[in-house]
Amino acid sequence: MDMTLPEPSELERTHSQALEDRIQAKIRSAGGFLPFNAFMQMALYEPGLGYYVAGARKFGAEGDFVTAPELSPLFSQCMARQCAEVLEQFQRSACILELGAGSGVMAADMLAELERLDSLPDHYYILELSPDLRQRQQAILKARLPHLYASIRWLDSLEGLQLYGVVVANEVLDSMPVQLFAAKDKEISERGVALKNGMCVWAESVLEDNDLTQRVEMLRQRYGEEWATPYCSELNPQLSAWMRSLGGILQEGLVLLVDYGHPGSEYYHPQRHQGTLITHYRHRSTEDPFLWVGLQDITANVDFSAVAEAGTAAGLSLAGYTNQANFLLANDLDALFMAELDDDLQGRLALSQQVKMLTLPAEMGERFQVIGFTKALDLRPRGFALRDFSHRL
Ligand SMILES: C[S@@+](CC[C@H](N)C(=O)[O-])C[C@H]1O[C@@H](n2cnc3c(N)ncnc32)[C@H](O)[C@@H]1O
Repeated sequence: MDMTLPEPSELERTHSQALEDRIQAKIRSAGGFLPFNAFMQMALYEPGLGYYVAGARKFGAEGDFVTAPELSPLFSQCMARQCAEVLEQFQRSACILELGAGSGVMAADMLAELERLDSLPDHYYILELSPDLRQRQQAILKARLPHLYASIRWLDSLEGLQLYGVVVANEVLDSMPVQLFAAKDKEISERGVALKNGMCVWAESVLEDNDLTQRVEMLRQRYGEEWATPYCSELNPQLSAWMRSLGGILQEGLVLLVDYGHPGSEYYHPQRHQGTLITHYRHRSTEDPFLWVGLQDITANVDFSAVAEAGTAAGLSLAGYTNQANFLLANDLDALFMAELDDDLQGRLALSQQVKMLTLPAEMGERFQVIGFTKALDLRPRGFALRDFSHRL
């Protein structure tokens, strides 16, 4: 255990123990082995207890990690500029749908910017799995934009929605449960969780031919010529269904997904033989997802080649793929930065620090990627005009 990690409070420990008990019961009822994605689903989303659905702070300085919209309003203002370009194409009413809206700060900053640009959507829909986050979003949006509040709608599911406009999701794909695999010479194992002395421990189950082995064999054929043995990595089993649901609701418009990740050839590079799974707890990273379940975030990078493939299979057209720095600069980041500068030296320093964090390669600038898909829209989104790396997918 990393001794430098801050200790949870008594209350947090009790909460974590309740989730751990439920996970252990699940492992026993599954016969002693739980695939990792089932564990991750419970750790993050178990009703009332999971990391995202219970009351942990999660975002911001006091939380576990900082996302781009939490770091700076400039991020959401640039996203708004991209949305405005699309919304302006419509003769009819058009809307924005945000998936996994976190604290609600991106929605608030985007709507404020869209209002400044006179490009407000008819509705701003939010699909949020977490009742706790939904409440936080409602509080921030009611406080900051009382006059627009009636146009913001929370959805329980995407069923029946027909969307003309833009779908946005920042750091949602990386928080979907992943299946972990270990590819050896002749066999493929699924990695998961078992119990030993009353504790969750890593375990492997050798797979017969199934959906996961077929997918891993496909990855091995494409990228695995020089894979080490064993080669451990992960994949997102929900991706295709999720993209299909987006392709199904979007009638006309743009889907924009922002996250940390790589094209498949880099994701499944021989050197990355331990995969990309990581946990966040109070701004520290650990590699132990079984530590303080429910109190720490668990996440994996995104395979953007798989996203592109799933999107096109869902009837969407790939509109571009670039890194966050290029995308923000192509959406007026520099002009927005200059416009915000005033005489206050502290404010200037803070703002330039935000721009650095958003764009420097070692910060978010190159680690984060943006992928866009259009449907029935004759537009090359401005965010991909500076550099488009679609050929790398
Ligand atoms: C890392 S947080 C990012 C929050 C916010 N977008 C931000 O940038 O600050 C991940 C969010 O994705 C949501 N999420 C995970 N899976 C989802 C899904 N299948 N559909 C919609 N939201 C999802 C979580 O509930 C959480 O709000």
